[in-house]
Amino acid sequence: MQDFITRLPKAELHLHIEGSLEPELMFALAERNGVALPYASIEAVREAYQFDDLQSFLVLYYQGMSVLRTAEDFFDLAMDYFRRASAEGVVHVELHFDPQAHLARGIELGVVIEGLARACRLASRELDLSSALIMAFLRDRPADEAMQVLERAAPYWEMLDAIGLDSAEHGHPPQKFVEVFERARALGIARVAHAGEEGPAAYIAQALDLLDVCRIDHGVRCLEDPALVERLRALRMPLTVCPLSNVKLKVVERIDDHPLPQLLEAGLLLTINSDDPAYFGGGMRDNFLACQRAFGWSEATLLGLARNAIEVAFMDPARRSELLVRLESMA
Ligand code: ADE
Ligand code: ZN
Repeated sequence: MQDFITRLPKAELHLHIEGSLEPELMFALAERNGVALPYASIEAVREAYQFDDLQSFLVLYYQGMSVLRTAEDFFDLAMDYFRRASAEGVVHVELHFDPQAHLARGIELGVVIEGLARACRLASRELDLSSALIMAFLRDRPADEAMQVLERAAPYWEMLDAIGLDSAEHGHPPQKFVEVFERARALGIARVAHAGEEGPAAYIAQALDLLDVCRIDHGVRCLEDPALVERLRALRMPLTVCPLSNVKLKVVERIDDHPLPQLLEAGLLLTINSDDPAYFGGGMRDNFLACQRAFGWSEATLLGLARNAIEVAFMDPARRSELLVRLESMA
């Protein structure tokens, strides 16, 4: 099964590139840029990764990214992840990135996007790994700041596959970002949003009603509202579920308690993702494997989940057909 999961062509739709920063690279970049880290060693970093909830993780996540300063750093960050992901059978990655977290430290948008985009081009050539860029807004920051960032991104609009919404969910409903998402829609930029990770099912409904999103990141709390579940099913609205993330951030206590079996049973369009693999103890292979072990999933179920991700990914039709052929050859 482990070998089957590795060979399965996996598309990852929910990955925060800053959350792929492994402690080894964090230390190397800290040294290169003369940034002081509050950790004595690489082991100490890993030991610090014990979280009580989303907020306790976000504190270390924003602190960790302080080592990213130049386009070269963002390039190295993304290439480091692409190489690891490719080695475990990932064929397509959609990267969320958090421009506000970098702008706040004086790092220009162009530095971030040009570094990431260069890595995306190289990964396509060297690793046959396709990718997409999702510029995410921090929902615990003011909506006008998000709007300013969207306008400032004008030279890069063409390079963005979507905008997203992430960071601390409690008390920051999708409603707060209606105008920003309206503007993106007017610009022809697709929209996704985190909803129903820690926040209530009502936030998922709001993301659909008010932000006109084409997928929901996480969404696991939809089960609290049967009418919403039915709506998501009827719409074939993709949910980008992140099982190991949900365990690490205590959305669920143990992987065995994860609602994935109920979500599948409800007929929802699900995908498996790693979210912040450097912080949550595993990439795509480990997420698939943990679920397969916990729920006894068959090869057909695993193929179905991998197929869902390829079918709804931001990718050109030729690439989608190529990956679907590769996937079906395993069936
Ligand atoms: N930013 C990085 N990871 C996140 C998560 N799991 N939820 C919300 N915002 C995030
Ligand atoms: Zn996320």
